[in-house]
Amino acid sequence: MRVSAIIVAAGSGMRLGLDAPKAFVPLGGRSLLYYSLRAMAVLDAIGEVVVTVPAGMEQRARAEVERAGLEIPFKLVAGGTERQDSVRIALAITSAESEVVVIHDAARPLATPAMFAACLDAVRRVDGAIAAIAVADTLKRTDGRMITGTVARAELWQAQTPQAFRRVMLIEAHDRAMRERWTTTDDAELVERCGGHLEVVESSATNFKITTPADLEIAEALMARNSGH
Ligand code: C5P
Repeated sequence: MRVSAIIVAAGSGMRLGLDAPKAFVPLGGRSLLYYSLRAMAVLDAIGEVVVTVPAGMEQRARAEVERAGLEIPFKLVAGGTERQDSVRIALAITSAESEVVVIHDAARPLATPAMFAACLDAVRRVDGAIAAIAVADTLKRTDGRMITGTVARAELWQAQTPQAFRRVMLIEAHDRAMRERWTTTDDAELVERCGGHLEVVESSATNFKITTPADLEIAEALMARNSGH
């Protein structure tokens, strides 16, 4: 099974209160992007990596690729306005020989190679397989602050990345999204809307997305623990 990987790394760092694009924010002495590249570097299944970067950041991204010791072919491309645009741009330059595409947010630096491998294993049986965690808290529906209902959580999962898909199916889903003006921050949703069969692959809460300065601090602490400092 041939696999192309896409790392989306073209988002801004605005909510982190930083000028630097999020994927280039430092974490544990490296950039956020470095960790996703590192995970790719140890995965034999992946044949090429496409990285979407903010326009003008290609040189910085190339340096990160080298630092991560990525020895498989890679392509850097300027991302689009929204995440969905970045994925579409990246998809268009993935190798037509790849049967599967695995997409990952550079903003999730704690994804492990095992999470990628589990998604790649599951996608052999289905159209898409996504990392996710079961919802642990009770969810409330509100109107402003007023509680109007309680959502049964038994069947609810929080979607993360990596997400692996049959390449042709994902391209079709993105094409249809363009034509029908669907917008989403989740590729799986597009494939679902096209009737694809998808599965969740149980991941870990540590695979959270860095959004706020507090998230960066938590990620720093987890990394320091993992490296035994
Ligand atoms: O902004 P947020 O963290 O939700 O974005 C998720 C991922 O998508 C990030 O890794 C970000 O770099 C990427 N992204 C992108 N192009 C955009 C917006 C976000 O590649 N236009």
